[in-house]
Amino acid sequence: MKNKFETRAIREQAERTQHREHSVPVYLTSSFVFDSAEHGQALFAGDIEGNVYSRYSNPGTDEFIRKICLLEDAEDGIATASGMAAVFAGIAGLLESGDHILVARSVFGSTHQILTQLLPRWNITHTYVDIGKPERWEAEIQKNTRMLFLETPSNPGLDLIDLEFAGNLSRKHNLILNVDNCFATPYLQQPGRYGTDLIVHSATKFIDGQGRTIGGVVVGRKELIEELRFFARHSGPAMSPFNAWVLSKSLETLAVRMDRHCENALALAQFLENHPKIASVKYPFLPSHPQYELACRQMTQGGGVLVFNFSEGFDPARKFIDRLQMLSISSNLGDTRTIVTHPASTTHSKLTEDERLSVGITPGLVRISAGLEHIDDIIGDVEQALG
Ligand SMILES: Cc1ncc(COP(=O)(O)O)c(C=O)c1O
Repeated sequence: MKNKFETRAIREQAERTQHREHSVPVYLTSSFVFDSAEHGQALFAGDIEGNVYSRYSNPGTDEFIRKICLLEDAEDGIATASGMAAVFAGIAGLLESGDHILVARSVFGSTHQILTQLLPRWNITHTYVDIGKPERWEAEIQKNTRMLFLETPSNPGLDLIDLEFAGNLSRKHNLILNVDNCFATPYLQQPGRYGTDLIVHSATKFIDGQGRTIGGVVVGRKELIEELRFFARHSGPAMSPFNAWVLSKSLETLAVRMDRHCENALALAQFLENHPKIASVKYPFLPSHPQYELACRQMTQGGGVLVFNFSEGFDPARKFIDRLQMLSISSNLGDTRTIVTHPASTTHSKLTEDERLSVGITPGLVRISAGLEHIDDIIGDVEQALG
């Protein structure tokens, strides 16, 4: 019988060395030595498997990749230096000039920049489709559409996409379904269950969970990962072996951390929903979320992020942020520390106002990534800052 999630995240480990270490060592080495000239030749020719150079593979990085594959139920994967390198590799490593991507609007800011500023240089085009109107997506599929890219829950709007629907549509039109699962993590949602071909993560967020490293990973179908491995091997976005060690260790506590992130986020969302100064609150596991039923079907808990709105715009949002005493003001998320972000002026400031409004980023929108501090202290700081 297959081990449970927590056990898989802990017990998958690189082969022990002759020192019989319990915790895996950090393989800080750029290259690996060959037993002989013939051995080196066979490794380079791919006749035998083994480490050659840390841009290609490293035992610690492989451990991290194998764990994510086990948690996402994926066949293979590559690890990258950042979440954006993973997003870029997952698209640029597979598509060719003349190809087209269908993208569910409301993707991370830098993903939007890749789609709108970089990929057109190589004649890879995209069409944004409305998250709220999936019935219109099929009409936007063109002869050259090869991929459907989406994020669910979206950042920062926390809109959801029905993965079963996306899986069926992709299969029907032979599209590569590519899902950024950064907000949910494999603990809360496994896109592979719905036929997702590629799953991308910014490991910087909840996978690290302690705000220490930058990293990314793409896992999915073996034949697609083979192409990405070629792309990564020669274009070089490799994850550092040290970060791979940190991130593999972090996975060992992902489940317990996510339980607490979700518990704190839900409690804070409930508190804010009842606060007279707040116009609206969005959190996937609040019954008031327009897609609450889908959230309960597709996710096991609501995640660590919530958003809320001051109806009078940026001014009260700014005052609230400036009055906070404990919560951190930062653009990151998925840390032990609760973080407050004002997306319109920071993470999504490069979008036009119309682009922001089309994905629900109003001037009064505030995002909170609930940390692992005691919930009374988190709510206490938010309450005093609201005045
Ligand atoms: C949903 C999502 N995808 C990708 C990224 C990019 O990840 P990284 O900052 O690790 O490059 C982020 C970063 O916030 C994100 O929120």
